Amino acid sequence: MSVYLDNAATTPVRPEVLVEYTKYLTLLGNPSSVHTSGQQVRQALEEARESLAKTIDCDRSEVLFTSGGTESDNLAIKGIYWQRNSDDAKRNVIITAGTEHHGVIDPIEWLEAQQNAEVVLVPVNFDGEIDLNWLAEYLKANHEKVALISLMWANNETGVVTDIVAVTSLAKTYSIPVHSDAVAAFGHIPTSFKNSGLQAMSISAHKIGGPVGVGALIVSRNTKLVSIIHGGGQERGMRSGTMNAPAAKAFALAAAICIQNLISEIERVQQLRNRLITEVLAITSTISLTGGQANRLANISHFTLAGASGESLLFLLDQKGIFVSTGSACQAGVNRPSHVLIAMGRTEDQAKGCLRITFGHESTESDVDAVIKELPAAIESALKAGLSSQ
Ligand SMILES: Cc1ncc(COP(=O)(O)O)c(C=O)c1O
Repeated sequence: MSVYLDNAATTPVRPEVLVEYTKYLTLLGNPSSVHTSGQQVRQALEEARESLAKTIDCDRSEVLFTSGGTESDNLAIKGIYWQRNSDDAKRNVIITAGTEHHGVIDPIEWLEAQQNAEVVLVPVNFDGEIDLNWLAEYLKANHEKVALISLMWANNETGVVTDIVAVTSLAKTYSIPVHSDAVAAFGHIPTSFKNSGLQAMSISAHKIGGPVGVGALIVSRNTKLVSIIHGGGQERGMRSGTMNAPAAKAFALAAAICIQNLISEIERVQQLRNRLITEVLAITSTISLTGGQANRLANISHFTLAGASGESLLFLLDQKGIFVSTGSACQAGVNRPSHVLIAMGRTEDQAKGCLRITFGHESTESDVDAVIKELPAAIESALKAGLSSQ
């Protein structure tokens, strides 16, 4: 029997979602075709858009379907940067933080290397919280140079939540657009687009029980951005390519189920999380909870263990059929300490001994039992391996 506790990497597709997905996969037609067959698919797509908009609390016209979080981040960041920089060439600053996902960091670094952008990082404290006072001061002095701000709603490695409304309130004074990568947050905490004050927000289906390969960028109606993909002009000209109606339908259903059960699911997962944290911290005094003082998502728990490598822990638990991670799946296999922990002030050595345990809709008490049963021996072996490699 296996225990899957890597839901921040991807979640199991919900059975109802799989039924919906396969049902619409058999529907024939291109949603842009004018004949009845095509229009049936168009109708399915628009139903999905309408339904997804309700779960996000935005207008249906603000939903642009994409291939996932990474594409949504790229479209928002490059699209808004190009638009703002072409409207006013002196606006070349992109404000972000060192704890962002690579889906945000990499397009920003690309804009810096290739397109004359200047990257400004908001300082992050030991618990992974951004310094809002610093941001306020920076904007006061430099707002005329700023093209956009991109700050994630919740961190996918540590679960630390950003006060997005505080960020957008600061930016609003100077009419600076704010994008947020809400891939880890959406479906796990309330994320009303309307109340957020954001101009753009990225979300992805496979983090909430939907299929991989579909996501959305929510773009407020008054926000202009330059497209990164050119072609048939679909999705209001901002994302060309034949729309994937079955995936959109599946995404919308996964989101609807999540949002319908959001409060009870947060409470259920919080109980699992609280027990997990208490019992993991009791194993040894050298293990600590990351972001302990910050507001965190209920589904993500991240620990660091001095003197051991997270890769060893992961491997030892894997042998017992328990699937966890050391951090972002996008970096797995890359033997480098997490950039998120480094940005939070950890040394390379401290950042090596990490363990991320993440719950999803299928997680139960027996999953926590399994980790608690196997973790002490795994920690002991990982510490021994750590010592012998010194
Ligand atoms: C915070 C965050 N942003 C972006 C992504 C990328 O999303 P996708 O896998 O849909 O491209 C992920 C996925 O790990 C994520 O956790």
